[in-house]
Amino acid sequence: MDFELKTLTRTLICSEKTDALIVLVPDNPASGSDALSALVALALKSGDLETKAGKVLSAYRVPGIAATRVVMVGVGDASPKNIRTAVGAGMGALKACNAQRAVLGLNALGALQPGAVRAAVVACSETAYTYTTTKSKAAPAKLQRVVLAVDGLPFAQEAFDRAVGLVKGIELAKEWANRPANHATPTLLAGAAKELGKLSRIKAEILGPKEIEKLAMGAFLAVAQGAAEPLRFIVLRYDGAAKSEAPVVLIGKGITFDTGGISIKPAAEMDEMKFDMCGAASVLGTFRALAELQPPLNVVGLIPACENMPGDRAVKPGDVVTSMSGQTIEILNTDAEGRLVLCDVLTYAARFKPKAVIDIATLTGACVVALGGVRSGLFSNNEALAESLIKAGDSSLDPCWRMPLDDEYAEGLKTNFADVANVAGRAGGAVTAAKFLQRFAADFAWAHLDIAGTAWKGGAAKGATGRPVALLLDYLLGQAATAEPEKAVSKAKSSRRRATAAKAQA
Ligand code: BES
Ligand code: MN
Ligand code: ZN
Repeated sequence: MDFELKTLTRTLICSEKTDALIVLVPDNPASGSDALSALVALALKSGDLETKAGKVLSAYRVPGIAATRVVMVGVGDASPKNIRTAVGAGMGALKACNAQRAVLGLNALGALQPGAVRAAVVACSETAYTYTTTKSKAAPAKLQRVVLAVDGLPFAQEAFDRAVGLVKGIELAKEWANRPANHATPTLLAGAAKELGKLSRIKAEILGPKEIEKLAMGAFLAVAQGAAEPLRFIVLRYDGAAKSEAPVVLIGKGITFDTGGISIKPAAEMDEMKFDMCGAASVLGTFRALAELQPPLNVVGLIPACENMPGDRAVKPGDVVTSMSGQTIEILNTDAEGRLVLCDVLTYAARFKPKAVIDIATLTGACVVALGGVRSGLFSNNEALAESLIKAGDSSLDPCWRMPLDDEYAEGLKTNFADVANVAGRAGGAVTAAKFLQRFAADFAWAHLDIAGTAWKGGAAKGATGRPVALLLDYLLGQAATAEPEKAVSKAKSSRRRATAAKAQA
């Protein structure tokens, strides 16, 4: 879907020729003498339209309005959250018709709240997105272009550019997360990273089993050894600032399928374990957005990718392996594999002398029990980092919730046979998993996002959400702003972006 930003007054919007016009109607809308204002006033007066967020009333070929269809949607107090609900409902109302181009009117909302434009653009993409890759007869989406109509450009332009970049990242994350495991093997994921490596300021390096053996990543190797499909370790770099600038490292869990291994999972809903690489997908998506926006900062992306399979070579419960850090691990449950691949990559991350390390993982079912699908679990050994991530999550409508890391939670990880066990009891499972990871993150500011509940939806609407790309990008752009406030929006940006686009097409 293409997006365009345009300044349009209320009167001008009435003469805008388009297939559909979606107007967001806030509580106490301003009155006007144009046809659209009159229509909205009439609809409200009759009681057929309410301003509660998401309430929809549609009209067809209205005199005085050039658009073929008019969709009026209540947006309440016009908060970003309500804008997301309203745009979702408005776009949803267009799904069944043949509209190819829509104008989305944000210009009746008065001064836009911060995050309003982002919420609108993300909601458009959300409603329009359909997965097609493994369908033989995919009908192309009808709606091709959305024009965002606002009162004044200068304020909205930057928010708009960032939102369009964000959406590219979210869509890439969803695409790879949604692909079935046989269409998203570690090698294919590495291929996606190599594609990103063609974009401006991005480099991709791919390591295989031999290199991982050399690095002595005994925990990562233990998980991968049960599968015929070879592991891949993806190292991405986005270099947007001076070499001397310490990078933020993002680590994405990339288990392309999690059977549980010898500690095998029950059959029901096991298919959903194709989503066990959503952390990896969110890192790929974030890099896609960075390529688009070219902010002045350095970011490293690390993805341990492999399958967790049972087999005659598979690691067995009770096996003890030596991690890259030198710590030995008793693998009591082969289904607690995420922490095993992550712990070696946390050790690897130290070589970048990072400003911060954030791992993103569909790590525990316990986190789904604790927080459901609303907030991701956040664990951190650093107050400032935790605070920044919470703020980024709230403002990007991709929220997380801080969880504890008291040392008492680590009691259950003690064992007689190694330095640490990979599981504790059932109680506090999301926290004990984080306590395990924390042992490998002592040397830097570290945060762990457990996205097991937020990265995908089950049931009829089964599919990836693209979370937490919005949170990560908001955090990173905030870091760029603190690092180089005067250059955060550089003039060179648009020319670099053109270069990026040209490179992407090549
Ligand atoms: N990938 C799963 C976590 C998961 C489970 C995410 C269900 C979403 C829904 C992870 O590898 C896993 O299997 N974790 C175990 C840990 C347990 C063995 C300590 C779990 O959560 O059951
Ligand atoms: Mn598992
Ligand atoms: Zn897993």
